[in-house]
Amino acid sequence: MKTYNIITYGCQMNEHDSENIAGLLEAMGYTHEDDAFKADVTVINTCSVRDNADKRFFGVLGQFKKVRKNNPDFVLCVCGCMPQQPHIVEKINKQFSWVDIVFGTQNIAQFPQLLEQRLTTGRRQRAIVDNNPVITEDEMKPKRMYRHKALVNITYGCNNFCTYCIVPYTRGREKSRVMSEVVREIECLAQDGVKEVMLLGQNVDSYRDPAGHSFADLIKAVNDIDGIERIRFMTSHPKDISDEMIDCFRTCDKLCHNIHLPVQSGSDRILKRMNRHYDTARYLEIVDKLRAVCPDITISTDIIVAFPGETEADFEETLNIAKRVRYDSAFTFIYSPRKGTPAASFPEQIPDGIAHKRFDRLVDVMNSISLEKNLEYKDKVYDVLVEGVSKNADDAYAGRTDGFKLVNFTSDRKPEDIIGTTVKVRITESKTFSLEGVEV
Ligand code: SAH
Ligand code: SF4
Ligand code: F3S
Repeated sequence: MKTYNIITYGCQMNEHDSENIAGLLEAMGYTHEDDAFKADVTVINTCSVRDNADKRFFGVLGQFKKVRKNNPDFVLCVCGCMPQQPHIVEKINKQFSWVDIVFGTQNIAQFPQLLEQRLTTGRRQRAIVDNNPVITEDEMKPKRMYRHKALVNITYGCNNFCTYCIVPYTRGREKSRVMSEVVREIECLAQDGVKEVMLLGQNVDSYRDPAGHSFADLIKAVNDIDGIERIRFMTSHPKDISDEMIDCFRTCDKLCHNIHLPVQSGSDRILKRMNRHYDTARYLEIVDKLRAVCPDITISTDIIVAFPGETEADFEETLNIAKRVRYDSAFTFIYSPRKGTPAASFPEQIPDGIAHKRFDRLVDVMNSISLEKNLEYKDKVYDVLVEGVSKNADDAYAGRTDGFKLVNFTSDRKPEDIIGTTVKVRITESKTFSLEGVEV
């Protein structure tokens, strides 16, 4: 029996791509091996969104040199967002010659063929495709990570070209899947026992299928599928979110009361330089509408600190919007220049020292708000969809509330009886990043 392992970095898009790659390998007769250094085929699915992702990848790649040397039959594959950049492929070819196969984000379906060729000819395989208009999702049989929740792509690529971001270059132009095909996939998932779907796109709000269906139409169609209990989506873009979509929080009972709405900066001047196409007034108007339609909605965000040209005054506006919105949680990043993006060559790059100080100040503000918000949950009872055994303690379980709060809780029930079900949990303790409780 031949074995495989996949190392995945980056976002949910990559996680789902890895599920598809695992499905392709299993169809070829491979079985999963937990240790990436012992498998016959190891795939590294890469991310390039910030420089630390790049660094981590090259570090890991170095560790495989010995494996390849000791076992000439070992096959090392690299895919994902890094090889979509020609300078990265060049670097792999020059400095990491033990990489056997390199493919990209837009030709995953080609992987089995590349692997066959490598095995029969012994030759290195390199195949990268840019802006592939063909969607192969319907041909895939992903090996899913969870039994009860599933990632479902609705769009690929991105057309927004935020000036800091590499994604439009690594994922190509935006394309939407046909609504009926998404619905058919989710119907099959529901029959397999999946209760929660996460609809994925770099900008779900710009979803439009060839028949003209919008993202709101899609949510409504998924809401009608029997067996599905929770619908989530990622990521919303403030420039494209529609009132019709916001209204789905009222009309679609399965749509979770949670939204990830990246603001990126609280300064209109910086938002313009980021090419985000909204200002803070518009952003706050959306937040107010969401809360009017769905008062208990939880809101998370992404923020970039120290974008080129960010002044102390710009940064304080970011602190202000954070305090005004009072986010449940936030992903905060220090700006990282990405080769080939406009912002990388903007003048006024911010020195590391200032960037780190601003970052720490922002994290302090965000964390104290998150904790205050979580304290409101104490002593109340919530429905929790149980995802598995808790990472913190073997005798506890972990799950999520409708609003995506992570809850670690205790229960007398056995894992096989409780995982994948929705249970009532009383919150006993609130922390910054999670809640604790007991099943009632
Ligand atoms: N399509 C999504 C997610 C893109 S990547 C969106 O538009 O929100 C996830 C987050 O990484 C972004 O929201 C942004 O906050 C951050 N990010 C992207 N490029 C970055 C860079 N060059 N430096 C720092 N953070 C970055
Ligand atoms: Fe990147 Fe902007 Fe596209 Fe998000 S919307 S993937 S931040 S270019
Ligand atoms: Fe990273 Fe590519 Fe996702 S750069 S964040 S894996 S789209």
